[in-house]
Amino acid sequence: MPAPLPFAVLVSGRGSNMLAIAAAARDGQIPGGPVAVVSDRADAAGLAAAAALGIPTEVVAPAQFADRGDWCRALSAAIASHGAEFVALAGFMRILDPGFVARWQGRLLNIHPSLLPAYPGLHTHRRVLEAGDRWHGCTVHFVTEELDAGPLVIQGRVPVLSGDTEQALSARVQKLEHIIYPKAVGWLAAGRLALDGGTVLLDGQPLRAPLIEEPE
Ligand code: GRF
Repeated sequence: MPAPLPFAVLVSGRGSNMLAIAAAARDGQIPGGPVAVVSDRADAAGLAAAAALGIPTEVVAPAQFADRGDWCRALSAAIASHGAEFVALAGFMRILDPGFVARWQGRLLNIHPSLLPAYPGLHTHRRVLEAGDRWHGCTVHFVTEELDAGPLVIQGRVPVLSGDTEQALSARVQKLEHIIYPKAVGWLAAGRLALDGGTVLLDGQPLRAPLIEEPE
């Protein structure tokens, strides 16, 4: 088996997906493990949580740079300096510029709290409830220049229940995030997942539609 690809996780907030990924690496579900957790915010709870696990952490704050381009170049350099060969965005709340996306093309995953292509952007749980949808969920996708629009890898799907609140629905979706994201990261680390043009390949086979995971 080839050596696992080292990766970095980028967080802006609480970092529960980062913790799920770190736990999966510890349990052997992801070969290797995160070589760094990087944030745009020194006060991100996810950074402290990573440090407590002994994972190297780094802050690259946009305020220290003249513009987004400079910041994105510094961010890329910081990630690469830890030896990472791919990047998992896990609640990273800033837009990355085209140079960053091109630099990590096919090596940049994100998790989004909706069944993409439905509900790109923010406040997805609220919007699903307002629309009266029957299904909701989360999606792991490769990142491209267009926000929340890259090729889809795996989705977690939950029914919307009558009487659901934004909080209850979000908690149910997050449970699935913590299952599907470590899976996808594990595939990429093991060299099983790739992007060929706009096509996602898993074990060399094109995925015609994202894989679907539902609660047991
Ligand atoms: C998750 O809901 C994820 O889908 C979105 O940001 C949130 C991050 O949560 N991209 P956490 O910081 O991993 O707990």
